[in-house]
Amino acid sequence: MKVLGIETSCDETSIAVLDEKCIVAAETYSQDVHAAYGGVVPEMASRAHLQKIDVLCRSVFDKNGIDPRQLSLIAVTDSPGLAGALLVGIGFALGLHCGYGTAITGINHVEGHICSIFLEYPDIPLPFLALAVSGGHTSIYRVDDFGIYTCLGRTVDDAAGEAFDKIGTMLGFTYPAGRAIEQEAQKAASEQHIAFPVARAGAGQLNFSFSGLKTAVKYFMQGKDSLWIDEHRALICASFQKAIVDALVENMYAATRQTAITAVAVVGGVACNGYLRQRMMAACGPAVFFPSPSLCTDNAAMIAKAGLERGKRNLLRFPHMAPSAEI
Ligand code: KG4
Ligand code: ZN
Repeated sequence: MKVLGIETSCDETSIAVLDEKCIVAAETYSQDVHAAYGGVVPEMASRAHLQKIDVLCRSVFDKNGIDPRQLSLIAVTDSPGLAGALLVGIGFALGLHCGYGTAITGINHVEGHICSIFLEYPDIPLPFLALAVSGGHTSIYRVDDFGIYTCLGRTVDDAAGEAFDKIGTMLGFTYPAGRAIEQEAQKAASEQHIAFPVARAGAGQLNFSFSGLKTAVKYFMQGKDSLWIDEHRALICASFQKAIVDALVENMYAATRQTAITAVAVVGGVACNGYLRQRMMAACGPAVFFPSPSLCTDNAAMIAKAGLERGKRNLLRFPHMAPSAEI
């Protein structure tokens, strides 16, 4: 069974082909048009997907000798995401579906991120807790099996990756800023920190709030001249990275205590962060799993994996035509 995955929900155009055993082929194009604007410009994202998707798909097929008629299923991200960007992927997938008569399914992007863990850890013990942490999402799920997810907590405002990106822009980093901030933070002396606050949702609550952190860093910087900021950029980065990671780790640790579930998966773009990985392993013990960095950020292999598992269980749904796929 070969599954074609298509992902265009934000600023990555990604195509992958997966079979039961492995990722057969995958290519991802990260749009760079947004860097000058400090964030994703939806209209530009849709146009960039439109320019790239056909080229990328042909490249995946041609370089790997894949005949589209061999595909058993097309899995395409259909929510959540930028409407115009999603429509490019959905339209392309429907074109292939009509042209080749291949079965098709819509996939929830966050379910895709959760499924990224099964690509490299097919035997991850169930149930496990998943922290989906990216530029658009910060949520904790209890995963009882494929397709059986219970949301235990989520951000009430900004996502953690969004906080990295927005504060990064204030500090002069280009979008997306997460990786550059992590690298800058490594230059800081580890024992020093500015105490930036992250709002806590209250005892027993597993929600997050990161919008206040952005404001706290903004006000902190207002009192400083640019020379001071230049000299202390690493300290500022290390401090707000610590504030974000403290909140993520504290809530995940609390979730393991509340549920008595010890296996933890951390997925999504922010899961690339080495400091988060190290702190999460220290707090939550040995059964903490992370995808490889290329499977943490948006990619079509995770969408194909979700499609493959849905196919096996007769859970296919036509893109955007089924009741809300929100998880
Ligand atoms: O999963 P993803 O590619 O897209 C969304 O679904 O949002 O995640 C992108 C996010 C961006 O906010 C980016 O800054 C962040 O992941 N990110 C990182 C790192 N690498 C990517 N954040 C912190 N540290 C990193 N090393
Ligand atoms: Zn994502």
